[in-house]
Amino acid sequence: MIRCEQLSYSYEDYQYNKVEVLKDISFEVTQGERVILLGINGSGKSTLLKILNGLMMPEDGTFYYKEEAVSKKYLKKNSQTFRKEIAFQMQDPASMLFNPTVYDEIAFGLKHFEFDAIEERVQKWARLFKIEDLLKTSPLALSGGQKQKVLLASLLCVEPKVLLMDEPTAHLDPPTTGWLVDFLKELDVTSIIATHNLSLGAELGSRALVLGENHKLLYDGSVKMLLDDMPMLIQAQLVHKHRHEHDGVTHQHYHLHRWD
Ligand SMILES: Nc1ncnc2c1ncn2[C@@H]1O[C@H](COP(=O)(O)OP(=O)(O)OP(=O)(O)O)[C@@H](O)[C@H]1O
Ligand SMILES: [Mg+2]
Repeated sequence: MIRCEQLSYSYEDYQYNKVEVLKDISFEVTQGERVILLGINGSGKSTLLKILNGLMMPEDGTFYYKEEAVSKKYLKKNSQTFRKEIAFQMQDPASMLFNPTVYDEIAFGLKHFEFDAIEERVQKWARLFKIEDLLKTSPLALSGGQKQKVLLASLLCVEPKVLLMDEPTAHLDPPTTGWLVDFLKELDVTSIIATHNLSLGAELGSRALVLGENHKLLYDGSVKMLLDDMPMLIQAQLVHKHRHEHDGVTHQHYHLHRWD
């Protein structure tokens, strides 16, 4: 369904030097697969998701969606289908909310993609995310978690086939996080979800793609096996160290804090 062949991408720094942030990335995700995308800050996760959403073109290599190369020409011709089928939740919810009210925000995609029963659908999704009381409010007046809920409702209501999510549980409280994890499990979608939360990641996908500090694909395989592979976790910097004090003795060791 999604295939990347030797993708590379560079940004320019403040002195107009090219800085490569994705190097030679190749992988394939088949329909219905649940993939989590891991890697330290700045490793290129959000950049990769933007390419997979057609917001940026790779500098080298090719991204194929349903076996067709996603070029500018492809997007011009197929933009409606591509946009309807692939939903992208950006890391910063505020950057994706632009309608005058929460109601309009959720209704926007439904209207754009010509769904029927818009009022009922908006009410249903508002109920699911427990944001019914906010429907008349401006998204600008919401808390971070409320914004995230509006964004997720507005993306999921158009029933995408592919979900690209960048830290979907950031800003969410524990009950909403638990509900969302269960909800995503039930959905019939293909998903690639970037997260820093390893143990939560194990709930969101069975396969992991890990970007290394060198911006190459460091690991592509089962999440379970990754969690048991401490040398790999250390190399990928997916575990952390901090000081502990027990009976006056201070020591440090690697941690993978559980999400419970
Ligand atoms: N618009 C931009 N212009 C220039 N450099 C950028 C831009 N966006 C990202 N970068 C750089 O590209 C690198 C990868 O960024 P990206 O946002 O993809 O990382 P990430 O893995 O999502 O990190 P995080 O875990 O912090 O979200 C970083 O070094 C970042 O500074
Ligand atoms: Mg990011």
